[in-house]
Amino acid sequence: MQIKSAYLSKEPQTEEQITAALKKYPYPKGVSLPKGSDVTVVEDLFSPKQLAQLAYLKHLILQHSTDNVRKSLLLAFYNTVAICNLTFHATPKGGGNHFGYYYRYRIAKEPTILNTMAVFERKFERIVAAKKETSYKINPDTIGNLQVVHGTATNLSFIKKESVDYIYTDPPYGKKIPYLDLSVMWNAWLDLAVSQQDYEQEAIEGGEHHKTKDEYNSLMAQSIREMYRVLKFDRWMSFVFAHKDPEFWHLIIETAEQCGFEYAGAVAQKNGQTSFKKRQNPFTVLSGQLIINFRKVRKPRYILKASLGMDISDIVTQTIEGIIAKNNGASLEQINDELIIKGLELGFLDLLKKQYSDLTPLLLDMFDYDDKTELFAIRKNTQFKSHLDLDLRVRYYLISYLRRMELQRKTATFDEIVLHIIPLLKNGTTPEAQTILNILQDIAERVGDDSWQLKKQSSAQLSMYL
Ligand SMILES: C[S@@+](CC[C@H](N)C(=O)[O-])C[C@H]1O[C@@H](n2cnc3c(N)ncnc32)[C@H](O)[C@@H]1O
Repeated sequence: MQIKSAYLSKEPQTEEQITAALKKYPYPKGVSLPKGSDVTVVEDLFSPKQLAQLAYLKHLILQHSTDNVRKSLLLAFYNTVAICNLTFHATPKGGGNHFGYYYRYRIAKEPTILNTMAVFERKFERIVAAKKETSYKINPDTIGNLQVVHGTATNLSFIKKESVDYIYTDPPYGKKIPYLDLSVMWNAWLDLAVSQQDYEQEAIEGGEHHKTKDEYNSLMAQSIREMYRVLKFDRWMSFVFAHKDPEFWHLIIETAEQCGFEYAGAVAQKNGQTSFKKRQNPFTVLSGQLIINFRKVRKPRYILKASLGMDISDIVTQTIEGIIAKNNGASLEQINDELIIKGLELGFLDLLKKQYSDLTPLLLDMFDYDDKTELFAIRKNTQFKSHLDLDLRVRYYLISYLRRMELQRKTATFDEIVLHIIPLLKNGTTPEAQTILNILQDIAERVGDDSWQLKKQSSAQLSMYL
């Protein structure tokens, strides 16, 4: 690699070389960091040696004449800057953390100083690997179709109404991560301008500009309205749903529905990180996320509270028991995913948020937890403790199953229904087929020969219990 040999031949190492490089090559000077940072300006996040080496490396990269190669090199540089600074420290388990982990510019007590070129080379190799992996779809023939726009999702006026085939969006959740504040260091190195307007338009609660929750809510709502406007009818919008932030579930679903989106199902997406850092607060340590799908249809059906005849704690217990029974044990993520999806589909998400932001005491009280498999399981030699009578439990599983079918615009045969219900109840008393049929006749109606769908009023009726 040309850059590597050019760099190594003149890498600033001695004090003299460092001073000379800092005079010659540009680096960020006097760019303020957000309040709450350990130092006030970007350059103080680096040792003079790091600063000189990064400045020299950037100088070499900018000389590269091929546009897309230069940009790829800059991407590797961006990743290098992330860890070649004084906020980075190695962790006992391997790897390390930088300021991003703490959500603020925190100087490490004992910074780990990495070799700049070794990091850069590794990061560049990763980019090359990613390019290879995606080259089937992203290549010189297709790249011209891509347009990257710097702007705000609250104003998509450059896109015509009903012209978009699909939207995938991963919005910010409240005050969790101050993205713009945290990108100051990178923006300074990459010469990317951040305007006052960028700050005004950022959907965030708090941050350097002290936005309120109402401001966050209204920016999110406005962007959902814009997405609705530009999407074609009968097309989908997928929304990344960070389930560790129950506070915002309701806002998203309600706004999407108000705009005219119809909920179309949810899938869990894992990001491969280990999940169980601590048991105390599951919602803050969960690593996976849900993708919630909405469809823009002309006559949307809204998620209505199902009449389940149980109170919220029973519904929660029932949902957890069901998933544990069906899978012979369930991880915290699986339990959360199931609860949130059921909460969505049966209309109790808002209650779930209020009462079950921390599930751990309930889970540890009711189930065994296996440290090795990280699964919650039924206590040995016991049956589910649920005090609910069997009819109610069957009724709950029937309604949630038929709701799901309804969403998918399907019906189910009696055999399919029984096959679905039995595994959910297998650690308790198993119901007779006749019991299931009786309850089914109460809440559902037969269509055709042997297909069942929820009766209109049982899916629409507002529950007295919720
Ligand atoms: C959860 S992150 C998305 C992360 C992204 N999927 C990724 O993997 O890098 C949310 C992003 O929304 C951005 N954001 C905040 N307000 C916005 C707005 N009004 N319009 C567009 N994006 C915004 C934040 O800066 C942040 O980068």
